[in-house]
Amino acid sequence: MMQSEEVRRAYLRAMGIDVWIPREQVDVEPARTDTETRAGAGNPGWDELRTAVANCTRCRLHESRTQTVFGVGNTAADWMIIGEAPGAEEDRRGEPFVGRAGKLLDEMLRAIGEKRESVFIANILKCRPPNNRDPGQDEAASCRPYLERQIELVQPKIILAVGRIAAQQLLQSDAPVGRMRGTVHQLGATPLVVTYHPAYLLRSPSQKRKSWDDLCLATRVMTGTAT
Ligand code: URA
Repeated sequence: MMQSEEVRRAYLRAMGIDVWIPREQVDVEPARTDTETRAGAGNPGWDELRTAVANCTRCRLHESRTQTVFGVGNTAADWMIIGEAPGAEEDRRGEPFVGRAGKLLDEMLRAIGEKRESVFIANILKCRPPNNRDPGQDEAASCRPYLERQIELVQPKIILAVGRIAAQQLLQSDAPVGRMRGTVHQLGATPLVVTYHPAYLLRSPSQKRKSWDDLCLATRVMTGTAT
């Protein structure tokens, strides 16, 4: 739920943004509905899924991880935030988005009246790629059934894909983020909005305004006011 104007502006200031400029136009892209492989036998519930992820050896990343990073938040959330993969801090703590980028993600969530506990946060990969390299296609494919089952269980009203890797993997596209943002995509029946990764926003603060536009677009999808 959107907070009071004063509070919202305080969070926007924390994000380095002063003014909210609503987007007028929303284009809708066609659906993509593939689910190739399942996250283990049957349709696991949360406990089974957690156990399957914790014990996963489907790709070589299990050899170098400290622990898996399953995801965190409200398992019945309206918002699902999907990032790339755990970094060093996430690998150490077992929770997604806990480093500097995570702090900015928290600010972004606060700006739309949400918080870490009210949304569900997950990544394309549950294990950290060594030296924070990009996920391999094989690693993303191995991990995908877990994420797909998480999405099925949460049944979010909106998915926010943060960053190139998340957007490209979820939409099976090689388009740059700049081309994928500003549009409401569909992942099966779930609307999906793309925005910049908070780590990129830390390096390029001038892009925060665009990211705010993306959050506004996603909020309008959530409230059914996107046209
Ligand atoms: N970046 C991500 O994409 N995910 C994390 O969990 C942390 C940093």
